[in-house]
Amino acid sequence: MSLKAYICRSALCLGLISTHTLAVTHITADRMIDVASGKVIDAPVIAVDGNRITSVTANGDVPDDAIRLPGATLIPGLMDMHVHLTGDADNHGYRGLAVSTVRSALTGAKNARISLDSGFTTMRNLGAGGYADVALRDAINDGDIPGPRLFVSGPAIGITGGHCDNNLLPAEYEVAGDGVADGPWGVRAKVRNNFKYGADLIKLCATGGVMSKGTEPGAQQLALEEMQAAVTEAHNRGAIVAAHAHGTEGIKAAIRAGVDSVEHASFLDKETIRLAKKHGTVLSMDIYVTEYILSEGEKAGILPESLEKERRVGGKQRESFREAVEAGVKMVFGSDAAVYPHGQNARQFSRMVTFGMTPLQALQASTINAAQLLGKQGELGSIEPGKIADLVAVPGNPLEDISVLERVQFVMKDGEVFKNTTANF
Ligand code: ARG
Repeated sequence: MSLKAYICRSALCLGLISTHTLAVTHITADRMIDVASGKVIDAPVIAVDGNRITSVTANGDVPDDAIRLPGATLIPGLMDMHVHLTGDADNHGYRGLAVSTVRSALTGAKNARISLDSGFTTMRNLGAGGYADVALRDAINDGDIPGPRLFVSGPAIGITGGHCDNNLLPAEYEVAGDGVADGPWGVRAKVRNNFKYGADLIKLCATGGVMSKGTEPGAQQLALEEMQAAVTEAHNRGAIVAAHAHGTEGIKAAIRAGVDSVEHASFLDKETIRLAKKHGTVLSMDIYVTEYILSEGEKAGILPESLEKERRVGGKQRESFREAVEAGVKMVFGSDAAVYPHGQNARQFSRMVTFGMTPLQALQASTINAAQLLGKQGELGSIEPGKIADLVAVPGNPLEDISVLERVQFVMKDGEVFKNTTANF
């Protein structure tokens, strides 16, 4: 145990480091969205005691010392289920080889603040070398740095030479991804190792990808048996599994293996959509990022082969998104930020609406659906008494104009105000 952890177990330290004042805070705005029902509540007064919401009253009395957010709409803290905080969008391809794991953790500290500032109070970090994501999560939880509540995977697990390996250098350099494993037992060992070193959940690579060298997005990588082994091992300890999968066969195998979410899900067909619904598999589709890759990618160091792959994947993924929404597959918001700049995550909302969701569905994907995927529906995802006080305010009604989510004015996470740019703060 570290000295700090030891000291901090004493009652004295708990008193000193507590970040929450015990007084009740009241927050009021023009309106609030009940994301479960879609109802708009006028002039809400939300009481927060410590880190919990204790009451929500429509048109209630506003205490003198309340935080007032005129013109704003209150929504639950946003939740992005696919980011890589330890990576940056101008550091793609070979540039990444010059970045140490330790340096990447510091990049993560920068991006955690940026993400929280843009309204994301909870995130899943899906894949980081050297457990930099575990260190980042712990630093945020210890109150050392500001950031979203993180659920992290540690190194993403995949086959030799696959999307989650590092294929940039020739054999003599002996470079490999931290999560490379082959065979069901190899995969099990890697899953156990990730939990040993602090992962909350598991990320698998079921197919090739766009950004990796020498892999094909449409081709399956981890075999069904390998994914089954990972899912059994993770589910045994109550942890969830996310699978990167673009190609149809890889998506199907991941669903059959029992993963909890499929990331990207680019090449869907009717049968795959049916399977996802049958198994209750959640889709997390990063449909904004194609715009960044194709416009800025070359400058950002993205490999020419990746640009070529993106031209084949992006359009099809957007069609698949529309079909999945129409079929009623459960969806969460997942951006893959790091491929595009952190802080711009919310740009994806307007694309989710363009490609078939109602604004309410897009909001639900980033709140209650995400909370449910994490098994935290009792704590996160909506503004209700008893839940954790994660609140965001935006200038206008997102049910009328979803793009207001790109202009977050106020952020409270865990009962603590991290941002308030409204005039009378
Ligand atoms: N990390 C993903 C991959 O390399 C990014 C895919 C981005 N493209 C897209 N259309 N979603 O495969």
